[in-house]
Amino acid sequence: MPATDLETIVSLCKRRGFIFPAAEIYGGFANTYDYGPLGVELKRNIRDAWWQAMVRERDDVVGLDAALITHPRVWVASGHVATFNDPLVDCKKCHLRWRLDHIEEGQYGPVKRDAAGNVLCPNDGGELTEPRQFNLMFKTQIGTVADDASMAFLPPETAQGIFINFENVVNSMRRKLPFGIAQTRVSFRNEITPGKFIFRTLEFEQMEMEYFCFPPKDRENPAEYLALHKAWIDARLSWYRDTLGIDASRLRVRYHEKEELSHYSAATADVEYLFPWGWGELEGIAARTDFDLTAHGNESGHPLTYFDEETKEHIVPWVIEPAAGLTRTLAVTMLEAYTEEPDEKGENRGVLKFRPNVAPVKLAVLPLSKNEDLRPFARKVFDLVRPLWMTQYDETQSIGRRYRRQDEIGTPICITIDFQSVGEGGQPGDEAVTLRDRDTQSQVRVPLSSLVATLRERLPGC
Ligand code: GAP
Repeated sequence: MPATDLETIVSLCKRRGFIFPAAEIYGGFANTYDYGPLGVELKRNIRDAWWQAMVRERDDVVGLDAALITHPRVWVASGHVATFNDPLVDCKKCHLRWRLDHIEEGQYGPVKRDAAGNVLCPNDGGELTEPRQFNLMFKTQIGTVADDASMAFLPPETAQGIFINFENVVNSMRRKLPFGIAQTRVSFRNEITPGKFIFRTLEFEQMEMEYFCFPPKDRENPAEYLALHKAWIDARLSWYRDTLGIDASRLRVRYHEKEELSHYSAATADVEYLFPWGWGELEGIAARTDFDLTAHGNESGHPLTYFDEETKEHIVPWVIEPAAGLTRTLAVTMLEAYTEEPDEKGENRGVLKFRPNVAPVKLAVLPLSKNEDLRPFARKVFDLVRPLWMTQYDETQSIGRRYRRQDEIGTPICITIDFQSVGEGGQPGDEAVTLRDRDTQSQVRVPLSSLVATLRERLPGC
């Protein structure tokens, strides 16, 4: 069973060094968190698993790491400057988004109002949401003079860095369609809705890939393009299930209704997870057509096209975009792994049953006690395994309490060294160690000579 309440995870995260509320000594900083020693490992492992699946194991995808501080016109072309500017209102009926001041100025024709005088949607007369006075993009300033020319934005998504490098990648990597460009990095949004722990934060990490393909022959009926979209949805869903170990019953795909779609999108589907508070988005997979490349071509005056050798024409590729939240996926990985069950003595234990590939610590070397005679062999074992796997060495407290601590941080295997290993009363030891399995709590003895080979088998993908 996964964790059913968020509070258990929030408290474990702080107690065991995964995630801390930011700037706590100053009273905290809303919707902002710091990743502690174990959180940073877990995040890195999830990111690596994504990169492995999306870049290293594919011959049609390459990586990128574009600058964070981006040319301001990039955000004009992408539509973020216009769409994310306040004051924003949404029509509850047709879901179109407007600037309230523009409606009031009559830019869309005579202002429609209800009986109470509230402004209504210029499109269909629908009720509007309360205006949102916050800009979703964080502004920053370059240089010493604060004027419009020195203003830049922190990126609210990683995607635009990919689009503006399309031509660089095609030329330098001699790419042929279809191919993808992948990127993982931090994004910033001035979120005004209160977050649920790290579900919605001001800065967060994304893992995005833009997959460029040939435009459909029939724009109005892009059957092949939509089949490619569906293939990416299936691939991404199975990554959560098979690589991260998320139970299929708590995953679903939700297609956006026509009214929810951006005007340029041919289709969008979200991979959702059943959080303790209900279904929530983990990843959006959007069929973005040729919108972004065309928009950057128009705004920059530098067309972003691909030369089709067969037709000898310059074309604008269409795009499928799987866009995942790394930090949100980390929250799900924690929720999903957490279990409470009896330990060896029948007492309740909290255990994070991570897949070995994402577990922040893979091994713990635990001498039975602080006895001096155990230490040299225990250190020898530690020195043998730590260059290969993230390993902790711990000789404080009782062995039972140390097992509990390792269970709670999700360490798959503990290696125990006892007097049988090192010998006692003049008798030689057997130079073997005990491997204790986190999930079954079963123990087996393994000679030092075959320890690395045994661990390789028991830590797949690590
Ligand atoms: N380029 C497309 C794009 O950014 P999105 O659906 O806005 O799409 C993709 O974001 C993913 O990023 C979401 O599915 C979610 O996992 C994550 N995400 C978005 N906003 C977030 C926030 N404020 N805090 C944490 N994760 C966020």
